[in-house]
Amino acid sequence: MAYRSVRGMRDLVGADAALASHVGNTLIAVAQSFGYEEIRLPLIESAELFSRGVGEATDIVEKEMYTLSDRRGRQLALRPEGTASCARAMIEHGLLRGQPQRLWYAGPMFRYERQQRGRYRQFEQVGVEAFGIGGAAVEAELVQLANAAWRALGIHRHVSLEINTLGSGDARAAYRAALVDYLTPHVESLDADSRRRLTTNPLRILDSKVAATQRVLEGAPQLADFVDAPARAHFDALRALLDDLQVPYRVNARLVRGLDYYTDTVFEWSAGAIGAQDAVCAGGRYDGLVKRLGGAATPAAGFAIGVDRVALLCQEAEAEPARRPVDAYCAVLEERCMAWALAATQQLRELVPGLRLRLHTGGGKPAAQLRRADESGACWALIVGAQEVAENRIAVKWLRESRPQALMRVEELAVLLRTGAPVPERADAGGATGQAEQSASAANALAGN
Ligand code: HAM
Repeated sequence: MAYRSVRGMRDLVGADAALASHVGNTLIAVAQSFGYEEIRLPLIESAELFSRGVGEATDIVEKEMYTLSDRRGRQLALRPEGTASCARAMIEHGLLRGQPQRLWYAGPMFRYERQQRGRYRQFEQVGVEAFGIGGAAVEAELVQLANAAWRALGIHRHVSLEINTLGSGDARAAYRAALVDYLTPHVESLDADSRRRLTTNPLRILDSKVAATQRVLEGAPQLADFVDAPARAHFDALRALLDDLQVPYRVNARLVRGLDYYTDTVFEWSAGAIGAQDAVCAGGRYDGLVKRLGGAATPAAGFAIGVDRVALLCQEAEAEPARRPVDAYCAVLEERCMAWALAATQQLRELVPGLRLRLHTGGGKPAAQLRRADESGACWALIVGAQEVAENRIAVKWLRESRPQALMRVEELAVLLRTGAPVPERADAGGATGQAEQSASAANALAGN
């Protein structure tokens, strides 16, 4: 029986793996440029952290969590998101006393969702969280940070931002009651999910994409009418900052987000180009979470970006960086030259920081080795045969330009690999950089023998 990966869990290989790394690394670099510091969180937490933090009646907790029990029967969960873990860690290590914290994290999250393009059961997020900071400025900073990330990735023209305010907890409770009063007489017209949510999480009905439910919602009370004056002022301050920064956004009064911890501001970036699962980044303020998890009341705000979806968007937008996994590929013409080749290639790696140099192992005809070199995408084939070893030099063949082959000492080769240009010929170089010079064994290899 052949094994296959578990449904919803993907292998990323080759260009896909390189693109996911590029997206993740770029997002992290941007978060660091705003002074955010890394926090590394466990993949497994107590299941209760999420039922309490994210909310018992949310989709994530109700139907999407991967739970397991350990040998002592403790209920654990593979983390479905990072915010609750981050808040837990802040409380556990006493890091919220006095000073604010700006943090980033990156890694896999797990949700048992129906798999489709852009929606996986293991997916990657890069998230940022700011603890201990109230007010609209930090929210504007978060928006600016995400925008800087879209720019750095070259996809800023393909994303759009929606924002909303949920108001205080009291305002939301009053709105919830009014919404339930309004929807109850229309219950027969609602879709099955919304009917269930009417008792568990009525605000989420606003998110429904079902046309019949949308029609019922047209006459529903508006959350905006319940938002109290301080929350309104807070939201206006954020809007003014975004206007000053000339960040385009749309206020979407129906944007409520699927996690219970949000208060006041919520936001979401979407990218229609990637299909139905179009949210690439989402977050907001969550001033109640730290207290709900047992800490002191602490204002907080953050967001998480879905790396898999952003990678899809980079593909759609043709914003993938050029990829060359290997710079140089070293062919070894005879097995007895292997020890020399192993040492020489390592010397080159040490002399040329960042060099990606692959050594051919396992023998094979010279022509086959050069074919491998070409397929690797390398710019140069380095050729080591008995004659090169005897002369303490390496033959170099340019794979992407038509130039005569050269024979070089390791130090000279290092200059070529670092700069792309061979060292200028010197009178005392002993002919080492003679461009047309070619060892007999390398000539043989080139002739396809
Ligand atoms: P979320 O909206 O559940 O929020 O997820 C954030 C992002 O993760 C989504 O916009 C999407 O790009 C990506 N994502 C979510 N589920 C999947 C999936 N099944 N497959 C692929 N990508 C997915 C949170 O997780 C909050 N913790 C965000 C936050 C941080 N709020 C405040 N701080």
